[in-house]
Amino acid sequence: MIYLKTPEQIDAMRPACDLISRCLGEIAAEIKPGVTTRRLDTIAREYILDNGGKPACLGYEGFPATLCIEVNETVVHGFPSAYCLREGDIVGIDNVVEKDGWMADMCYTFPVGEVSDEVMDLLRTTKESLYVGIEAARAGHRLGDVGSAVQQYCEARGYSMVREMCGHGIGRDMHEDPEVPNYGRRGTGPVMRNGMVFCIEPMVNMGTRNIVIERDGWTCRTRDRKPSAHFEHTIAILNGETEILTTFDYVRQVMGDRFF
Ligand code: MF3
Ligand code: CO
Repeated sequence: MIYLKTPEQIDAMRPACDLISRCLGEIAAEIKPGVTTRRLDTIAREYILDNGGKPACLGYEGFPATLCIEVNETVVHGFPSAYCLREGDIVGIDNVVEKDGWMADMCYTFPVGEVSDEVMDLLRTTKESLYVGIEAARAGHRLGDVGSAVQQYCEARGYSMVREMCGHGIGRDMHEDPEVPNYGRRGTGPVMRNGMVFCIEPMVNMGTRNIVIERDGWTCRTRDRKPSAHFEHTIAILNGETEILTTFDYVRQVMGDRFF
């Protein structure tokens, strides 16, 4: 069941979206070789709490942290740890924040120091595919148009799409209907309508699309241990237009000319 939001309810989601976007900027400022992923988690948790929000992943179905940390071959749902980021790593920061009873969800995959051109191309392509998906997310069109656009963009460039995990509706809950797959066929799936708020989040692998879940029950990595990238925005269909509610502007401010 898809909960359509009124324009007022969508406005009520903006503070959560603003907070999570600023929080990502705070984290971006700390990403460099030598920092532990646990430190990033602490920064995020404190920033969210200091600004009247709640870390929504913490305790969600037993998830033990504020952030999902995605180093190199980790696709999603990795735990923060004592691991020190190293030059040449990539790290996805996936976060969900609750504010005023509404959820916001976003993810960005950062290069740590200098990364290879090959890996940089994976990051760039995955991020571009998110915007290709958003471009296809139009009132009156279908969700299959989004998945198809994202999939074609990435596969044409030699990458593969993770299929086991999808984007999702969002609102009072972190995960609402509909599912938003990163693959599919045009003209299929639910019609996008005014009042729909959902997350598009391509998870894109350099090698094969296959994944495995580690024995901790959460950490999802590529089976071939090649790198995977992940970007996510929360978007709304409002008055016939598509609006991106989260923003990478604060990440851009921190990264300067390293922003891609
Ligand atoms: N941010 C993830 C998503 O995009 C969800 C995190 S799973 C959790 O759906 F259990 F950690 F919350
Ligand atoms: Co999400």
